[in-house]
Amino acid sequence: MSIKVNYNNMMQYTLGERGITDQQLQDHVDMALQAHAQVEAGRSKGMQEWMDSPYSPQELIDRINQTAQRIRDNCEYFVVFGIGGSALGAIAMFNALKHLYYNELPRSVRKGPRFYVIDNVDPERLNALLDIIDIEKTIFNVITKSGSTSETMSQYLIAMDLLTKKLGDKAHEHIIATTSRTTGNLIKLAEQNNFETFFIPDGVGGRFSGLSPVGLLPAAVVGIDIEQMLAGAKDMDERCKSNDINKNPALAGAVLQYISMQQGKNVSVMMPYADSLKYVADWYCQLWAESLGKRLDLQGNIVNVGQTPTKALGVTDQHSQVQLFIEGPRDKVITFIEVQNYRSSYTIPHGCEQFPNVNFLCGHTLDNLMNNELHATRYALTQRGRSNFTIVMDCVNEYNLGALLYLLQLQTAYTGAMLNINTFDQPGVEGGKNATYALFGRKGFEAKAAEMRSSKPDDDKYIV
Ligand code: PA5
Repeated sequence: MSIKVNYNNMMQYTLGERGITDQQLQDHVDMALQAHAQVEAGRSKGMQEWMDSPYSPQELIDRINQTAQRIRDNCEYFVVFGIGGSALGAIAMFNALKHLYYNELPRSVRKGPRFYVIDNVDPERLNALLDIIDIEKTIFNVITKSGSTSETMSQYLIAMDLLTKKLGDKAHEHIIATTSRTTGNLIKLAEQNNFETFFIPDGVGGRFSGLSPVGLLPAAVVGIDIEQMLAGAKDMDERCKSNDINKNPALAGAVLQYISMQQGKNVSVMMPYADSLKYVADWYCQLWAESLGKRLDLQGNIVNVGQTPTKALGVTDQHSQVQLFIEGPRDKVITFIEVQNYRSSYTIPHGCEQFPNVNFLCGHTLDNLMNNELHATRYALTQRGRSNFTIVMDCVNEYNLGALLYLLQLQTAYTGAMLNINTFDQPGVEGGKNATYALFGRKGFEAKAAEMRSSKPDDDKYIV
């Protein structure tokens, strides 16, 4: 396994009096054991079917790969419509594993369609997309587990309308639905219109669905080796079957974050030192926020727990947010992602001998510069007693990415168990969805609409 979690800089050993002591870790071992047992007991049940994803049946993988190959051979544009967990996994995988200017590469190099994920309903974005694609050469992958999310269904209706006007009864060939087998409207529309369909298992929630067809089909379409990604996730899962925090990196991460939260460190910064992993940080933010930000515990007590995730990018954010991380409130845990070997290198040329302040860089590689800046930033944080730990990857590839995503999913599940909350629901998000339905006068949401009408209107005195 080529992923390691180095948590030296969480500990008293390096941080001094602000660090976690070995005794504190020891005091949380029972809690860790319980959290691990709880997550293991829930494996494959309820909303924990995502733990089956690494063991996806070969028929499903073959079907995804065959469909992807057909799309790669026959279409020029592949557009994902989805939001939240139905979009972020695919975005993270695409950016991590494909050429950073993939869409700009010639077709002969790409060997597949241009790739877009539209995860918002901003009309400017959609119109901009329509300006550059030819819908006759496009496949739209409509992804919504509930099959009723307003944003995704609006996008679907627009695409279907345009396709029908242009292609008549061939429109359906341009839509692939990824949705629940049993609930929602998209499955009904898929049956009526004869769309090719992939199913999201009932027990796989949006933010845990990256390694299901939600993320795997888009990934395969751009040529990502999904079997390798699942192999990495599977190896991480095997490793995390141990309930020993010295062997299980997800459990170690969960305990450290839990102790930090108890100490008032309520911000979790995810900071990869690789442009390719920038969107893994986005994906993590949703996973951590939506899973752990909860009002009630499992007994129904109001607890209002959670740790606010935020993203930063090394080295770019050394010139913005790191100032705050080093000198601002002591309320953060920073998770660095270190990549030991970048997939390409560049040596900084000579040519500045007269300026020693620049010349020191010459002859070094950019990857060397990235890694030294990570070590320097980590050192500076640690010197100031700022908690940080590092997920070390030997390189970014399919196997390691699958392992990384799965590690963070498990870390989230263990932390949720320690917080004694339901990690897998999102009543807050549902609240916003319901209010939108009410605003649009959707049947069944009359009471919500009335409640909203009776809320206080804006007072002009507070508008400047
Ligand atoms: O993680 C989640 O459950 C959410 O972010 C959902 O993925 C998001 O709300 C989209 O839901 P759906 O796939 O039902 O359209």
